[in-house]
Amino acid sequence: MGDHGMSRRALGGGVLGAAAFGLAGCQGAPSVDLTPRSRQFPQDFQWGVATAAFQTEGSLAADGRGPSVWDVFERQPGRIKDGSDAGTATDSYRRYAEDVDLIAGAGLDAFRFSIAWSRVLPSGGGAINQAGLDHYARLVDALLVKGIAPYATLFHWDLPQGLQDKGGWAVRDTASRLADYAAVIGERLGDRLKRIIILNEAAVHTVFGHVLGEHAPGLKDADLLGPVTHHLNLGQGLAIQALRAARGDLSIGTTMALQPCRPDGGPLAVWNRLASDGLDQIWNRAWLDPLLRGTYPDAMADALKGHVRDGDLAITRQPIDFLGVNYYAPAYVRLDLKAPSRIAQGEPPRGAERDAFGRQIDPSGLAEVLTRLRRDYGNPPLLITENGASDPFGPGPAILDDAFRIQYLRRHLQAVKAAMEAGSPIGGYFAWTLVDNWEWDLGYTSRFGLVAQDRATGTRTPKASYAWFKALARTGLLPER
Ligand code: FCB
Repeated sequence: MGDHGMSRRALGGGVLGAAAFGLAGCQGAPSVDLTPRSRQFPQDFQWGVATAAFQTEGSLAADGRGPSVWDVFERQPGRIKDGSDAGTATDSYRRYAEDVDLIAGAGLDAFRFSIAWSRVLPSGGGAINQAGLDHYARLVDALLVKGIAPYATLFHWDLPQGLQDKGGWAVRDTASRLADYAAVIGERLGDRLKRIIILNEAAVHTVFGHVLGEHAPGLKDADLLGPVTHHLNLGQGLAIQALRAARGDLSIGTTMALQPCRPDGGPLAVWNRLASDGLDQIWNRAWLDPLLRGTYPDAMADALKGHVRDGDLAITRQPIDFLGVNYYAPAYVRLDLKAPSRIAQGEPPRGAERDAFGRQIDPSGLAEVLTRLRRDYGNPPLLITENGASDPFGPGPAILDDAFRIQYLRRHLQAVKAAMEAGSPIGGYFAWTLVDNWEWDLGYTSRFGLVAQDRATGTRTPKASYAWFKALARTGLLPER
């Protein structure tokens, strides 16, 4: 993706054809204080790391696992930047005990991982694959023994190919299949696994997987924006209901990629604001509103026509125990009258800090997102479920003395603490990620780990950021520099 001029973390939209947008104009960047009064996080604040199944597990044919959309996509020529696949990744399916040791060694409280749907239900539904389920039972047990709270994401983009063959998220039935799968997890693992995240960044999966064709399942069809968005929201609501019916003692949340959408500057900034508002509705509000308000934003109206049935919005709107916020960078947007959606990628202000992938570094965007949740969405309990930085220079050996990552984490945590002081109920922070892994369409060229991995031997070597995060988790005291 980075090579196509538009990077996921610096998202600017593109051919989001079906979406029209109104003249509402998005709220300007609120002025937020990024400096906390105290650098001491509360005692019970949870420190963790986050991972995802397809990016780490490897062992794609082990123990009866069925293929997912990413198994198919990664094999298509030209899809993955370095031509690699996730066949080994960090080998966490076999080396999970080493992961748990690393997490425990850093004194962390929590681990966010995802369950591969197609390990549990190889074709998406039907008979349960006990061997696949057992892997997650072992992982959960290993975490609990060390006093680490497991957080399992149910859907981190790896839809079973069996369901994609029946239409995937474009068809309504997939929403019910997600609920069935959620019920299986609740019933079979819920005695030990108490914290469940339904979806990871459904906006990314919808837009990059179905509209822009840059992620699995590789579809490039603007008409899919509405149905895929709605079926994911509907599935999420049904899955929450199914989990609550399975057990009464689960803590249930979902994770969103929340990005402030800012207009490109310059003489056309006023017009660009129309485009940034359009993207904001598609990227942020199309997920926040159905869950927290039971509505969709106006810009989605045309795209959703014929897909939302009576009663659906009562299902999408569910009480949650926490909202997971993933944040990397703001999006800059400009108006493009030639694009069907009129939305195109813009540029951050001149001089903005960026890494080699064009990702901007701007903690004020996180502060803006947290302010908005406080102000406009009833201030729900939050967890920062992902935040982190890749090695800034792209491919090459992993950088073990990763001062840039420490600074990135430190500056974003400053914004987190300031938001807490302003009243945001934030219960924890998960760094993305534990071990350098397979970064989707960027393959092994982009590294976000606190720990490096020698790909030939599998040997893991903690980076400077690992020791830094360990000290932070121990004391809860955020260093000043
Ligand atoms: C997020 C994804 C995660 C990883 C990080 C770098 O958007 O949820 O899987 O790719 O970005």
